Amino acid sequence: MEKVILVGGGGHCKSIIDTIRESNKYEIVGILDTEDKVDQSILDVKIIGVDSLAKNLFGDGIKNAVISLGSIKDTSLRNKLSLSLKEIGFSFPAIIDNTAIVSKNSKIEEGVYIGKGAIVNADSYIGKFSIINTGAVVEHDCKVSSFSHISPRATLCGSVLVGSRSHIGANATIIQGIKIGSDVLVGAGSTIIEDIENSKVVVGNPGREINV
Ligand SMILES: CC(C)(COP(=O)(O)OP(=O)(O)OC[C@H]1O[C@@H](n2cnc3c(N)ncnc32)[C@H](O)[C@@H]1OP(=O)(O)O)[C@@H](O)C(=O)NCCC(=O)NCCS
Repeated sequence: MEKVILVGGGGHCKSIIDTIRESNKYEIVGILDTEDKVDQSILDVKIIGVDSLAKNLFGDGIKNAVISLGSIKDTSLRNKLSLSLKEIGFSFPAIIDNTAIVSKNSKIEEGVYIGKGAIVNADSYIGKFSIINTGAVVEHDCKVSSFSHISPRATLCGSVLVGSRSHIGANATIIQGIKIGSDVLVGAGSTIIEDIENSKVVVGNPGREINV
């Protein structure tokens, strides 16, 4: 089994550990996080050091990394971590839960996480380091750009485009053909029936823009 290091030890990390263990493809060597968390454990996986240990681990032959830090409003740390780990030379396998249904006619980029019971349908594209969380539905012909997060139970109907670093809140519904910009935040439970420009926060049914 290939070895993998996890970077980021919060709640999202638990989902990732669960998925990796069930898939039997990778052996988890440990987690990297901040100094105050070192020696703690998450689901019996130890936090073995801070992020700077990654270089030594790569030198020791561990070539795979998973960014196990979650995101809601701010994806910049996930972005920063991916760049520094890439510079070291790490590869970022997509981690797909055994219970997810992912069309063979979809394209899943590096660093993507697809959680329990999620569905990605035909001709959809999931960009680098995006999260398709528990029970989310990405219907046919959707494009989810890099570092975006489709939260638990959110639904993208067919041919929806989501820009980079956007967050689609839990149980939100985006109707077919809608274009959502980059750095957008869609609130939990919202229904989106019109396109959303970059950097907007939109909540409710039908979605309305708010300033937060
Ligand atoms: C959109 C969101 C980020 C706003 O949070 P916030 O910045 O703390 O904003 P507030 O709670 O102060 O709400 C601001 C206004 O928007 C409304 N609002 C906030 N979230 C809403 C939602 N999801 N649906 C409808 N209205 C919402 C509030 O009622 C409030 O309205 P008011 O000004 O008329 O009183 C947050 O409510 C949300 O939905 N987060 C997504 C959570 C999620 O997807 N989690 C998944 C993790 S895996």
